[in-house]
Amino acid sequence: MTEAIMVVGGLGTRLRPLTETTPKALIPCAGVPFVTHLLARARAAGVDHLVLATSYQAELFSREFGDGGKLGLELSYVTEESPLGTGGALRNVTDRLRSGPDDPVLVFNGDILSGHDIGAQLATHRATGAEVTLHLTEVADARAYGCVPTDPSGRVTAFLEKLPEPVTNQINAGCYVFGRRVLDEIPAGQVVSVERETFPGLLARGARVQAYLDSAYWLDVGTPAAFVRGSADLVLGRAPSPAVPPVDGEALVLPGAQVAADAKLGGGACLGTRVRVGAGAQVDGSVLLDGAVVEEGAVIRASIVGAGARIGRGSVLDEAVVGTGAVIGAGNELRSGVRVWTGAVLADRAIRFSSDV
Ligand code: GDD
Ligand code: MG
Repeated sequence: MTEAIMVVGGLGTRLRPLTETTPKALIPCAGVPFVTHLLARARAAGVDHLVLATSYQAELFSREFGDGGKLGLELSYVTEESPLGTGGALRNVTDRLRSGPDDPVLVFNGDILSGHDIGAQLATHRATGAEVTLHLTEVADARAYGCVPTDPSGRVTAFLEKLPEPVTNQINAGCYVFGRRVLDEIPAGQVVSVERETFPGLLARGARVQAYLDSAYWLDVGTPAAFVRGSADLVLGRAPSPAVPPVDGEALVLPGAQVAADAKLGGGACLGTRVRVGAGAQVDGSVLLDGAVVEEGAVIRASIVGAGARIGRGSVLDEAVVGTGAVIGAGNELRSGVRVWTGAVLADRAIRFSSDV
């Protein structure tokens, strides 16, 4: 048996624009709720029991995934009364694990899209006899992540969360193998950060903490822009997931969507059920939720259009988030991270971003 825990609480403030503009449901990413991709990848790596450690809207997960049977997994759910932090969330679910003290337990951050070889990470853990093995990846700017320097043997020498001036580009990629015993050692019933307390504490007592470094596809989808990019990468097959529904060309069009013959879809766009795209419209690398309407000639790029929202004739959306049921009149131009609230109505030709020169 291989067990895993996924931490899916502490809803990141950076994703708040999405949850404020869409209804209380798990927002689909490449046609299925984001976490489905992680669960399917865990299953493919041999995980047969997974505990979802949640602190926020836990019922959304249980309603969607039930006992996990559909995914070939057994799922357990544990909800914190108040968020316990990444470490506290793990300790809070240890009584649900069946693994013995020396067994490895996989841990996943719930907002990471990764193509890394989970089996190889487990094998590294076993081969090195480490107490914890961290998946690491390299990024251009490490400031938003945990910086993890290693020695030439791949042994972790420090864990430095969110440094203003990073000491390395090697970062914590948010997937760990823990020896079960280490999880039991986390103090119970209190807020604990695995990044700021558990990992530095292990290193301070000389524990072997091992790196599994690779250069596979990796993305933290914790912002609306990254969420859209992740969805597109899944549709295009750049991010591997067994849970992506069948894709036709460069777009994923779910059953029931209607697309005009001369509309252009591409860049990994994803169209939910009952979406309508009018003549001459273009949809590039965006997520259109169920029932969204894109009228004639509108151009949508790298944006999220909420369920039932309407984008008027000839409007242009670029890196925008449009809330559920909002109406964007004709001839508007919305760019650069703009958020339109749920149900808001924008008149025809109300907003433009064009330069005046
Ligand atoms: N159950 C539970 N309870 N889950 C939590 C809690 C909590 O109190 N706090 C955070 N989580 C979950 C989040 O839902 C997410 O899936 C994961 O833990 C990481 O939390 P984030 O808030 O997304 O952290 P981050 O992105 O700033 O940083 C983390 O991920 C980076 C990689 O993307 C850290 O682990 C960094 O070290 C890492 O580099
Ligand atoms: Mg995150």
